[in-house]
Amino acid sequence: MKKIGVLTGGGDAPGLNAVIRAVVKTAIGSYGCEVIGLRDGYDGFLKKDGIVPLGIKEVRGILPRGGTILGTANRGNPFAREVIKDGKKVVIDTSDEVVAAIKKQNLDGLVVIGGDGTLHISRELFAKGVPVVGVPKTIDNDVGGTEVTFGFDTALDTATEAIDKLHTTAESHHRVMVLELMGRDAGFIALHAGVAGGADVILIPEIPFRYEAIVEKIQRRIKRGSHFSILAVSEGAKSIDGEQSFSRSGNEIYVPRLGGIGAQVGQYIEENTEQETRVTVLGHIQRGGTPSSFDRFLATRYGAAAVRLIADKKFGSMVAFRFGDVVDISLEEALAVPKRVKVDGDSVRTARDLGICFGDEK
Ligand code: F6P
Repeated sequence: MKKIGVLTGGGDAPGLNAVIRAVVKTAIGSYGCEVIGLRDGYDGFLKKDGIVPLGIKEVRGILPRGGTILGTANRGNPFAREVIKDGKKVVIDTSDEVVAAIKKQNLDGLVVIGGDGTLHISRELFAKGVPVVGVPKTIDNDVGGTEVTFGFDTALDTATEAIDKLHTTAESHHRVMVLELMGRDAGFIALHAGVAGGADVILIPEIPFRYEAIVEKIQRRIKRGSHFSILAVSEGAKSIDGEQSFSRSGNEIYVPRLGGIGAQVGQYIEENTEQETRVTVLGHIQRGGTPSSFDRFLATRYGAAAVRLIADKKFGSMVAFRFGDVVDISLEEALAVPKRVKVDGDSVRTARDLGICFGDEK
């Protein structure tokens, strides 16, 4: 193993730098191997100055830093790249060009740190002969085959702290406070933060809700003397007879952007109860900041394990966390089924035992 590459793709998440650092330190320290970094995901192979040498000096001090020193892009898909042709924007397949650029670098392996989208692209490039090893990243925790992705724990702390802070205003002003949280089609952030922060209602994509059930819960609380309620609402949640709410539609380059369900729920509550309601959208705050110690440790283990996989020539694989150990699985297995909240699993059952409403109660 003489030379490897590392890139970060998709949305940023706390812990990306910890993975990059572990990759560089392991490659150099344990294998005497050269490392290059790609700027802005796969785009780095095509653009000018897109390749940077990574030595120990370059990764010094980055462990506690959020974001990624390499930059990232969530439209960096070599199979569908937007370019300007004859003055017009067109989408073309540049994958052969990217494969050729990767081959030119004589890489013994490429560590790809990304979520579902980036890992799908990497599987396609593996089929074209690129020696990839994946590292599962995302605050949404929705990658299959692994119990946890790095970034999730930090986002959870941020979301839980937000719920704690909303409690103050909720109690003081006797209000309903709705907090819209990220997660795409998976409700892990809203579920875990909702339970950890003591929310009264949790709405997640996996459990379609009835507006009436939410109002009934709030009224029950008022009758009991609790003149405030906290709702943790996943951005992908939807009512039984409704659709998910989007703030922007998708196209060949961008996936549709979820957003707006918190406002809809808040409006319904205000119109159908006597309680004043406020809505907070936590947004990208969840992706920022210094990674938690759990995420730093996990990201570091993932990074070192990914380099070991390259040394063992186990390409087309992904590092994963199972029963306390970092293991490797095929990208095929990881991407077969996206991970979702188990609606009859112990987390949801625990929340129900504590009286938390999911909006599906009869
Ligand atoms: O996948 C991570 C995530 O933060 C989702 O939770 C959210 O829906 C999406 O990315 C937001 O993407 P963008 O940064 O493009 O707005």
